Amino acid sequence: RSLHSAVSRGASHLTRRGYATEPVPERKVAVLGAAGGIGQPLSLLMKLNPLVSSLSLYDIAGTPGVAADVSHINTRSEVAGYQGEEELGKALEGSDVVIIPAGVPRKPGMTRDDLFNINAGIVKALCTAIAKYCPNALVNMISNPVNSTVPIAAEVFKKAGTYDEKRLFGVTTLDVVRAKTFYAGKAKVPVADVNVPVVGGHAGVTILPLFSQATPQANLDDDVIKALTKRTQDGGTEVVEAKAGKGSATLSMAYAGALFADACLKGLNGVPDVVECSFVQSNVTELPFFASKVRLGKNGAEEVLGLGPLSDYEKHGLEILKPELLASIEKGIKFANQ
Ligand code: NAI
Repeated sequence: RSLHSAVSRGASHLTRRGYATEPVPERKVAVLGAAGGIGQPLSLLMKLNPLVSSLSLYDIAGTPGVAADVSHINTRSEVAGYQGEEELGKALEGSDVVIIPAGVPRKPGMTRDDLFNINAGIVKALCTAIAKYCPNALVNMISNPVNSTVPIAAEVFKKAGTYDEKRLFGVTTLDVVRAKTFYAGKAKVPVADVNVPVVGGHAGVTILPLFSQATPQANLDDDVIKALTKRTQDGGTEVVEAKAGKGSATLSMAYAGALFADACLKGLNGVPDVVECSFVQSNVTELPFFASKVRLGKNGAEEVLGLGPLSDYEKHGLEILKPELLASIEKGIKFANQ
C-alpha cells in the first residue's frame, strides 16, 4: 500500500524500495553561482541526490546551458536554470537549502582575504534576496573568505529580521575531506573508515584539524601530526598552485559541498544523528562564529557540539587562530553595516 500511495503522490521510483514506507519529502535546492568551476560539478552531484525534488540553478550568466545539460540526467529532480538578477527571486522561491559558490576564486599568491572586496558584495546581494524570497532556507556558504562571508550573511539577515542562527552554515567540509584523506595516507588505515573533526575557521591557520581525536586511532609521531596539520591548512593553496592561475579547488569542493548539503537535507527530513563540522554562530569559544561539529536536524543546526579533549599542540593552535579569525569576523560585520 505504501508503494501505491507513494506513486499516486507522484513520488519518484526512489521511494519504491521495498523497505521504504514513507515517501521522500519534496525538497528544493538552489545553487547560486551554478555555472562556475564549483557550481557545475556541484549541480551535477545535487542532480544525483535522491533527496532533491527540485534543483534550481542560478548564475549571472551561463545557467541555461548548465541546466539543460544536467536536466537530461534521469534522476528524480526537476531542473530549472535562472540567469541574471531579475530571475533570482524565482530561483530562490520555496528553497529548502541554498548553496552559495558564487564569486571569484584565488589565483597563486592570493589569500582568501584578497577575495573580500569582490565576494563580500556578491554575498551581501544574494543574502538580501534570500531574506526576501526564501527566509526559512538553510544557507550553505561556500564563497570565500568564509570567515567573513558568514558574518556578512548573518548581518544581512538580522537587518531583514529573518536571522536564525540555526540556518546559516559556512561550508568547511572540504577541510574535513582533506584531513581524512591525508590522515588515512599516513596512518595507513582505510580512508572510508576515517573520521577527523576540523574546527576553527576556513583559512590558513584558522583551520584546525583535531588529529588527536582521529579514528581509527594511530600513534603518529608529533612531526607527522604537524605536517598533516600544515597540509590540511594549506590544502587549498596546494590546488591553487597546481592549477597555476586557472582557479582553486572545484571538483573536491563540489564533492564536499554536495556532502554537506546532503547532511542538511537528511537533517531536515528527520534522519537522526547527522553530524558534520561547519562554521556557525557559536558559544564553543569566546568568538561569535566558530567551526565545530554540528548536529543537523529539522530546524538546521540543532546542536553545536564542543571541542572535546585537545592535545597541547591543538590547544596552542586554537590560541593562535583566535585573533586572525576574530579579525575576519569583525571585517565581515563592519562591511555589512557600512
Ligand atoms: P568561478 O569563478 O569558477 O565561479 C564563480 C561563479 O560565480 C561564476 O559562474 C560567476 O558567474 C558566478 N557569480 C559571480 N557573481 C555572481 C552573482 N552576483 N550571483 C550569482 N553568481 C555569480 O569560481 P569557483 O572556483 O567556482 O569558486 C567560487 C567560490 O568558492 C570562490 O569564492 C572560492 O574562493 C570559493 N571556494 C570555497 C571553498 C570552501 O572550502 N569553502 C573551496 C574552494 C573555493
